[in-house]
Parts: sequence; C-alpha cells; structure tokens
Amino acid sequence: MSVLEIKDLHVTVETDQGVKQILRGVDLVINEDEIHAIMGPNGSGKSTLAYTIAGHPKYHVESGSILLDGAEVLTMTVDERARAGLFLAMQYPVEIPGVTVTNFLRTAKTAIDGEAPAIRGWVKDVRESMSNLRMDKAFAERNVNEGFSGGEKKRNEILQLELLKPRFAVLDETDSGLDVDALKIVSEGVNRAKAETGLGIVLITHYTRILRYIKPDFVHVFVNGRIAEQGGHELADRLEDEGYDRYLEGTNVG
Ligand SMILES: Nc1ncnc2c1ncn2[C@@H]1O[C@H](COP(=O)(O)OP(=O)(O)O)[C@@H](O)[C@H]1O
Ligand SMILES: [Mg+2]
Repeated sequence: MSVLEIKDLHVTVETDQGVKQILRGVDLVINEDEIHAIMGPNGSGKSTLAYTIAGHPKYHVESGSILLDGAEVLTMTVDERARAGLFLAMQYPVEIPGVTVTNFLRTAKTAIDGEAPAIRGWVKDVRESMSNLRMDKAFAERNVNEGFSGGEKKRNEILQLELLKPRFAVLDETDSGLDVDALKIVSEGVNRAKAETGLGIVLITHYTRILRYIKPDFVHVFVNGRIAEQGGHELADRLEDEGYDRYLEGTNVG
C-alpha cells in the first residue's frame, strides 16, 4: 500500500519584489488508488504545490515534509522523484525543441525503469495509448509540444502518464483549454491509467467540469496557500453552485 504524505508544508518563491510566502501549512495524505481533487481560486498556490512535489528549483521549502512510503521526497533530485514514482502533468507543458515525442517517451521510460523497454511491446504500447487518446500517429515524430494546441499538449501529458506508470500523479489543470470531446478523451485516459495501475491522483482544477468524468474520493478547497475545507464529492457540487467567494473574505487573493 503506497502513500504520499504532505506535512505542514511551507513554501516561498523569490520574486522581483522579494521573497513571497505561498504555501502556508499544507497537510494532505494520498493513498494509492485514491483521487483527491484540489480546487481553489487563481493564485491560491495550487501550481506551487504541484511544482514543489515535483522539485522545481524556484520553490523553496521553508519547513514541512513530503513522504513517499516514508521516504523524504524533499531531499531527492527531480530524477530521483520520478524514479520513485512521482509524476507531474504541468499546467503549462513546455516545448522541447529537437526532441521527438517518441524519443522523449523512450528516454523517460528508460530513465525511470533503469532499463530500456523491450522494443516490440513498447512500440505497441505507444501506438495503443496514442490511439486511445485519439492522437494522430504523426505526433510521434513531432518535437515535444512544439506547435501543439492546448488540447494536444494535455493529451501528450496523459500519454506520458499512461506509459510511464507512476505511483502518484499530480495533474495540474489538465482540463484547462479542453473542449468537451477532448475533456472526455483525457479523462478516459486518466481513468484507464488508474484502473490499470491503481495510482494515486492529485487532480488540481479551478472548475468542477472535469469531476463529472473523473470522480474524486476527496475534495479539498485550497485558499491562500492552505486547505480551507475538505469533504467528499458533494463539496464539489457546492462549489459549482457557490464558487469560492465565501472562502475569500478577509484574504487578498481572487
Ligand atoms: N515563479 C514565481 N514567481 C513569482 N511569483 C510566483 C511564482 N510562482 C507562483 N507565484 C505567485 O504565487 C501565487 C500562487 O501561484 P500559483 O501556485 O500559480 O497559484 P494557482 O495555481 O492556484 O493559480 C501567485 O500569487 C503567483 O503570482
Ligand atoms: Mg495553477
């Protein structure tokens, strides 16, 4: 039974105006095979949480810890985190000029598993996942995210998720910029990955729309760098009706 535990996490970021406190004591426990939705207004620190888990160097952990099956993630390099089974689908996926989707996937798979995947099975897996995600075969030979539309970038993130088979995945606004058809395809991919490997998922989203297709076991409302409320799926329904306004009184985010 794998578990990812975030304990009293405080994080700052260096800005032009000086050091800014963003996360102010985040506590979260994600067991394997659980889906946790993190919902909250823009600027509340959701992406900061995602980047901190992944090990982005811009984010400084002042205190707290992140444990993956008891091992401290914060002292691991970005590579070590990936090998330990952590995966981040970024809100704004980056372009990698000169590296094709095929080569990227194979290199990442080899780095994570410690050995190259057996070629025939691998090629078949890549084809199958691309076809499930309705990605044209030609994508395999294009440079990662270069000239991809918003929706294509998100599908490419889920392609990685399906093939790299992490133990825990943080999906940062994977729903943003998707039309309904693409949203369904991407959601099916996430549900397929979970059914296959039983991974734990942190689903970060501003809107409740994606939660129609990916059913969270727990919903956490993130406000001003910490969890302001948590509940089950019914909390998402309430947010859909009421928005975040009532959490924002007395804070300066919006
Ligand atoms: N690299 C950065 N440099 C400066 N400010 C940042 C940086 N990353 C985040 N912030 C600030 O931290 C706050 C939280 O941002 P973010 O984590 O992206 O929120 P969310 O994902 O919930 O919209 C915002 O006020 C944002 O401007
Ligand atoms: Mg964000």
